[in-house]
Amino acid sequence: MMQKQIQKHVQTWKDNLIMHAVKAKKNAYCPYSHFQVGAALITDDGKIFSGVNIENASYGITNCAERTALFTAVAAGYKNIKAIAISAKGIAFPCGACRQALNEFNPEMIVILTNENGTHTKETTLSQLLPHAFGPKNLE
Ligand code: THU
Repeated sequence: MMQKQIQKHVQTWKDNLIMHAVKAKKNAYCPYSHFQVGAALITDDGKIFSGVNIENASYGITNCAERTALFTAVAAGYKNIKAIAISAKGIAFPCGACRQALNEFNPEMIVILTNENGTHTKETTLSQLLPHAFGPKNLE
């Protein structure tokens, strides 16, 4: 019984995070690629920060949804990131730059990939997506 309740709770925060990523996506600014991405991360103490991809006429300075969410959290003083959910058309894994940016704060964070409306999901960890990462430990 207890186990079931715990399981249910675990399911709920992930579903909630997925919902935030799906919802955020509508604010994506992507007039060039038309590829909307929404991301939502949750901190250890349960705070959620969302982000979207923000493109630019100078293509190279485009900011991915994952980094928008990450930088928003860090700017608000939250660095202990437990998980991030990413919603896009089909299942889109985070790009290499975002993997590196996320690694700075928690290599073991849970990464949830979900489709446009959150009906199909995959789950992995950042360390699986970015093995042998270069990180803060290298500079100690
Ligand atoms: N994009 C993201 O926001 N996250 C990713 O992990 C992959 C790519 C965005 C960047 C650009 O606005 C659009 O998707 C197409 O590359």
